[in-house]
Amino acid sequence: MKALSVIPLQAGSAALTDVEEPPLSDGPILVETLAVGVCGTDLEILSGAYGWSPPGRERLVLGHESLGRVLEAPAGSPVTAGDLVVGIVRRPDPVPCANCAVLEWDFCRNGLYTERGIKEHDGYLSERYRITPDYVVKVDPRLGLLGVLLEPTSVVAKAWEEVERVGGRAHWSPRSVLVTGAGPIGLLAALLGVQRGFDVHVLDRMGEGVKPDLVAALGATYHSGTPSDLDIHPDVVIECTGVATVILDAMATIGVGGVMCLTGVSSSGHQISLDEGALNRSMVLENVAVVGSVNANRRHYEAAAAALAAADLEWLSRVVTRRVPLDRWSDALLRHDDDVKVVIEVQPIGSTSR
Ligand code: BGC
Repeated sequence: MKALSVIPLQAGSAALTDVEEPPLSDGPILVETLAVGVCGTDLEILSGAYGWSPPGRERLVLGHESLGRVLEAPAGSPVTAGDLVVGIVRRPDPVPCANCAVLEWDFCRNGLYTERGIKEHDGYLSERYRITPDYVVKVDPRLGLLGVLLEPTSVVAKAWEEVERVGGRAHWSPRSVLVTGAGPIGLLAALLGVQRGFDVHVLDRMGEGVKPDLVAALGATYHSGTPSDLDIHPDVVIECTGVATVILDAMATIGVGGVMCLTGVSSSGHQISLDEGALNRSMVLENVAVVGSVNANRRHYEAAAAALAAADLEWLSRVVTRRVPLDRWSDALLRHDDDVKVVIEVQPIGSTSR
């Protein structure tokens, strides 16, 4: 079967090659891959900056934002042949640490977790993959290809859970939400905020185009500029840019008792000057909380599946701005100005290889 793989930490090593059928050791459920979303982490891996191959192997199969159709599942599985499914990304560390032991692998404490398509375990960007029942999540069949948005939605479902748990430390009745960044993660975070009935503001650089249109269609308010230009002191900030100046500016505008969740991974090495005293003073005197969030556990995938099933399918379909067939995979990596989520189609949905 065909698979797109890389030699981790080697830029320009990506290649679509023939590989062995998926190993039985990956699990009894056999899935035919339909589509895989491309995200910033994939681009980092492709640029040679991130990623780990499986032990004893040179190449890592890419792909962690998946959508597939079950080909074979043993009796008693939570899924059956024909179901649309998504594979969970992270697997607990083998020790296991206290968090992985209770299946909160997204809070792994020793860093020995593995991640499909990222860290020491082949991803889903192959024509077929195998998986165990605990790591497969069923998708509402009405979503079709849009089920590929489940993994990024799981990341924001976790971010929202963190915000709500931290917010719940005292009386909590938030109204305004600021989402920084209108990429897929920002737009999906905004969707979950609108679904909760909040007054959602989304900030990005673009003055016009698909991102402002998508924000308006959601019933949220779009802004370009910096957080401090806005006339709001949000109760919640979901930060999805990873850009240091945006992060610090948003931190300084957050309202009393507000909670900010950081989801964007920044590159290091940028120094900016900061009045740490003023920032600390306002955070202390106003009970502001800032929390980081990565990855997602099964609870978050299930929350994400429910959020997508409740979303407007027409709106979701506009988030997937480009579909590229597997044999033209390199086109998917070239950024277009109006890209939001680019998806590699491994098997056209509606057809089947078997
Ligand atoms: C994935 C997460 C993963 C993180 C770090 C993100 O792109 O969505 O599941 O934990 O990268 O590897």
